[in-house]
Amino acid sequence: MAKTVIVSKAKKTFFQGGEETYVLRGVDFSADSGELVMIVGPSGSGKTTLLSVIAGTLRCDSGSINIFGETLSNLPEDKVTAFRCSSVGFIFQQFHLIPTLTCAENVSIPLLLNGWKRKPALEQAKAMLAEVGLAEKINFPPKKLSGGQQQRVAIARALVHNPKLIICDEPTSALDADTGSKIMEMIRAHAKASDRTVIVVTHDSRIFRFADRMVEMSDGQISQMVSHV
Ligand SMILES: Nc1ncnc2c1ncn2[C@@H]1O[C@H](COP(=O)(O)OP(=O)(O)OP(=O)(O)O)[C@@H](O)[C@H]1O
Ligand SMILES: [Mg+2]
Repeated sequence: MAKTVIVSKAKKTFFQGGEETYVLRGVDFSADSGELVMIVGPSGSGKTTLLSVIAGTLRCDSGSINIFGETLSNLPEDKVTAFRCSSVGFIFQQFHLIPTLTCAENVSIPLLLNGWKRKPALEQAKAMLAEVGLAEKINFPPKKLSGGQQQRVAIARALVHNPKLIICDEPTSALDADTGSKIMEMIRAHAKASDRTVIVVTHDSRIFRFADRMVEMSDGQISQMVSHV
């Protein structure tokens, strides 16, 4: 298996109100193609921050992030953005759906950013929404959907362009056990079928069984491997 994600000695400090918070304290982490890795750990331990530096939405202060052979810190901002558009699907902890667009329009965004024409992009988005069980909601704005339905729209948007790296921040937090399992099965099947890399941050022990490997983050470091349940 090829190593597709290599994080080496990553450090990140936030400054706020004159105080420094050392959020990543020299994180070493890697993931392979075809692998689903779960990251668990207490609230505030730096999990979302780590996902953000891997996705290139946040730069770390030192250390290196290498994704598919590219070292993100060596790339200019526009190249990082282009890499993210083509190769990363990100399911945000807070969903980040655009309220003025329909669900299908939200899901079509990654395709439009990758040069698809509007009509085929919308058709593909509708097919993806049907896969997550939301065929009935394609023309609804997100605010007319329940939390769990909005989360499924966010999942559809992350997968629609078949990215090589899928990053999920608490992907099942708003879902009931049955829907959460179905969604994880879908993400896992999707990843295995085309050798994608999936990194999932979760507190949800109901989905631990979908992991190939689990690591624990605490106090800004990947502190230990925990056995997979
Ligand atoms: N933009 C920011 N500015 C200042 N501090 C930040 C910022 N983003 C995160 N932090 C701080 O960094 C620490 C880690 O935050 P992070 O969101 O990575 O934690 P987390 O492990 O994802 O937590 P949770 O499980 O609650 O989502 C927290 O103390 C948080 O307050
Ligand atoms: Mg978080």
